[in-house]
Amino acid sequence: AVLACAAEVRPLLHFTPEKGWLNDPNGLFYDRKDDIWHIYFQSNPKNPFWEKELHWGHATSKDLTNWTQHESAINPSHRGEGILSGSVVVDRNNTSGFFNDSVHPEHRIVALYTRNPGLIETQEAAYSVDGGYTFTKYEKNPVLDVKSSQFRDPKVMWHEASNQWIMTVVEAQDYQIQIYGSDDLKNWNFHSNFSAGYPGFQFECPGLSEVPIAGTNETKWVLFLAINPGAPWGGSASQYFVGDFDGYEFKAIDSLTRFVDIGKDYYALQTFSNVEKKDGVIGISWASNWQYANKVPASNWRGMLAMARNFTLDYVSVNPQKKLLSLVESPIFEANVSKTSEKKNVKLQKGDSIEFETKSGVFEFELDFQTMKNITYPEQPNLDLYITSSNGKESIRFGFEADVGAFYFDRPTNVFQNPYYSNVVTANIQPTKKYEYNIYGVVDQNVIELFFMNGTTSSTNIFYFSDGKPSKVELKSNYNDLFKIQKFSLRDLSV
Ligand code: FRU
Repeated sequence: AVLACAAEVRPLLHFTPEKGWLNDPNGLFYDRKDDIWHIYFQSNPKNPFWEKELHWGHATSKDLTNWTQHESAINPSHRGEGILSGSVVVDRNNTSGFFNDSVHPEHRIVALYTRNPGLIETQEAAYSVDGGYTFTKYEKNPVLDVKSSQFRDPKVMWHEASNQWIMTVVEAQDYQIQIYGSDDLKNWNFHSNFSAGYPGFQFECPGLSEVPIAGTNETKWVLFLAINPGAPWGGSASQYFVGDFDGYEFKAIDSLTRFVDIGKDYYALQTFSNVEKKDGVIGISWASNWQYANKVPASNWRGMLAMARNFTLDYVSVNPQKKLLSLVESPIFEANVSKTSEKKNVKLQKGDSIEFETKSGVFEFELDFQTMKNITYPEQPNLDLYITSSNGKESIRFGFEADVGAFYFDRPTNVFQNPYYSNVVTANIQPTKKYEYNIYGVVDQNVIELFFMNGTTSSTNIFYFSDGKPSKVELKSNYNDLFKIQKFSLRDLSV
C-alpha cells in the first residue's frame, strides 16, 4: 500500500503517461504552423511495464510543461511487434512524395522508426497528413534493412549544407553509430561509421545536432549516444561527442567522452526537429534507468520524461588547466511561483540551519556559496541540503564535502528497495577562482533535476518518499567559518 501511495502522486512539471508504460521519448518535433510541440514515446498502453507490443504514445503542448495526451500515433500490426524508437521530420518540400498540395507544407510529417516483429530490426517510414495525430505506414517498408537483429533508433534531420536527409542509427552490439544519407526519406545510402566512447553492453538512441557556441556565431556538431548497461554509475547513460560534420562523416575534436547528465536517471536523450534556429537545440530524455525502470513503485502507469532542456556549447573550466568545449544545459518549463523564501550572505556555522517550508512540494531552489578556507585531510566538513517528506520519514540529502571538493546526492532506499537503485551519486565540480559554487535545482514529485555551475553539469535522479511530497528543506553545516552562503532561495511552484 505504501508503494502505491508513493507512485500515485504524479509529477507536475514532468510528463507521465495516463496509463501503461513509458520509456524513450520519440519523434520530438515542433509544428511551426500551429505553434505546438509534439512528443511521442515508447508506450505499452496495456500494462505498466516494458513488453511488446510497443506503440508510439503521443502528447502535445504549447509550453513544454502542460501536456495533452492523444491516441497512440503509430501502432503495431501484429502480436508481439514493437514499434521501437525513432524520430520525426517535417518534409516541407515533399521530397518523399507522400503528400499532395492539400497538405500544408508544415504538416508534411514523416516518422522513421524501428520495427521489431520478433527477430530482426528494420527501419520503417510512416507519414501523417493531419499534423502528426495519425500515421499511415509506407506500403514499401522497410526503408532500411541490413538483416540485423540489433539495428535501431533512427534519428533523422535535414542537413542544409549537403542538401540531404541524414540518419544516425546504431548497429547496437557492434558498437557502431552508422550515418546514412537520403534525398527522399525512402532510399538510404550508407555514408560512414563512428565508434567511440564507453561501449557498455550496447549502443542505443544516437542523434546529431548542430549546437551554437555561446557568445560566438560559431557552431559545432554534437553526436549523442546512449549506452546501456554500462554507465560509470551503473546502468543507463547518455554520452556525447563534440565535432564537425560534413554531411558524410562525423569527426570528433578530441577523443574524450562527455556525459549529458551524471545522474542515475537520464537516458535516451532526443532533440526536437524543426525548431527555429533562434530557439536553439532543445531535447528531452527519459527519467529512468533500465536497471530498475520496470520495478519502481507504480499504480496503473509507470515512467516519466525529464523536463525539456536547452543546449548550447561553451568552453567550460573543468579543472585548473583546461577549458573543455562542453554542453551547457538549462531546463525549460512554465510555472507559477506561489511562495518565495530567501536568505542572503549568511556564514553557516556548525549546528546552524536555514530552514524553509514548501507547501506545494514542487519547487525550484538556488544555492550559491563560497568556501572561505582550505581544508586539510582528514577533516570532513559538509554542507548539507536535506529535503524531507511531510511525514518526516525520508530525506534526500544533497551536499558538498569541502575536503574532496565534490557534490553528493543521496536518496532514501527504504520505500523502493532494489540493489541497483543506489543511493549515492557524486559530481566533481571545478569552482570559480574565488572558490564559489552554484547549484540550481528543480524538485518535482519523485524526481529532482540538479544543474551545477550555471548548467555545465547536471544530475537527474528519481526518488521515492512514503507519503509523496517533500515539505521541509534545510541547509546545514558541521563546520565553523567555512561555508558562506551567498544566496539560498526557494520558490514553490504550481502550474
Ligand atoms: C532504449 C531502447 C531503444 C529501443 C527502445 C525499445 O531505451 O532500448 O534502443 O528502440 O528502447 O523500447
